[in-house]
Amino acid sequence: MCLAQVCRSPINYTGNKYRILPQFIKYFPKNVNKCIDLFTGGATVAINLIAEEVVAIDNNPRIINLLEFLKKQDYCKLIKKIDNIIDIYGLSNSYKNGYSYYKEYVKGNNGLKQYNVEGFNKLKKDYNDLKNKNTNKANLYLYILMVYAFNNDIRFNSKGEFNLPVGKTDMNKNNREKIKKYIDICKSKEIKFICKDFRKIDIENFNDVEFVYADPPYLITDAVYNENSGWGKQEEMDLLKMLDKLNDKGVKFALSNVLQKKKLNLKNEILYNWLERNNDKYFINKIDYHYRSASYNKKNRDGLEEEILITNYKLEE
Ligand SMILES: C[S@@+](CC[C@H](N)C(=O)[O-])C[C@H]1O[C@@H](n2cnc3c(N)ncnc32)[C@H](O)[C@@H]1O
Repeated sequence: MCLAQVCRSPINYTGNKYRILPQFIKYFPKNVNKCIDLFTGGATVAINLIAEEVVAIDNNPRIINLLEFLKKQDYCKLIKKIDNIIDIYGLSNSYKNGYSYYKEYVKGNNGLKQYNVEGFNKLKKDYNDLKNKNTNKANLYLYILMVYAFNNDIRFNSKGEFNLPVGKTDMNKNNREKIKKYIDICKSKEIKFICKDFRKIDIENFNDVEFVYADPPYLITDAVYNENSGWGKQEEMDLLKMLDKLNDKGVKFALSNVLQKKKLNLKNEILYNWLERNNDKYFINKIDYHYRSASYNKKNRDGLEEEILITNYKLEE
């Protein structure tokens, strides 16, 4: 479950950095005591940071609770519980029964959709009906919903209901390996999950933090983390202010973002102007979404269209 030197989170999260992380994680400071993954999402970056202690922050309580729940589990016991719920809801278990067992239900390109649709919808209803969404049962249900959902994704509507339809896959070998790896990693270093708005983090307490990675929602893209959340100009400006303060305190940071989308004629003016103002301090590193190498580029911003990594230190392996 690892691409180059990067391990995959058990939570398949919209906007996760798994695919492009190998390009830039090698430039993150190594062997630091404490670092922060400020918008941790599915924790792909948090689990791959090399540090004694990682503080992983996100304002989505469902995700933070799920990550915390999975972290504390004993793998074998957890798998038994998951398999038990799969049986109760009559969902497919290709790991146990083999994929060919479900052959007659697999039509066209739809994978296990038809076999799972009824059980999935029942599980979704039962999850959405739960009053308390932070119990072991609720976290287990949410994890299984994600595994059997469209694109193995997690999405809530404005009422806080899980609202994805059934997907094509199930609790297969890959998903089992991802959970196992995640639990092992969480045992090997301290990862603290905190559910908070990033603005509530007191950066005056950052004295022992050596590195901050920030992967906020991108202002000029339309990625949806949950249909209720908003990331606007104010949030963008607050984040940049926070990064300036970190820089003043001597804390290294790396910020993922998209500066412009030429084809759509979109430009993140706030970010662009901030970079202009701090031309001598911050570095723009191009990240190629398809090609696995990061090239270093401080001055020439003309070609920048897609993913970038802004750092307050020069990238050196
Ligand atoms: C691009 S995603 C992060 C993806 C993550 N790096 C990964 O690899 O899975 C951005 C995250 O920012 C979180 N977020 C949005 N607004 C926030 C805020 N004001 N404070 C903290 N987290 C926030 C969202 O919940 C979402 O999980």
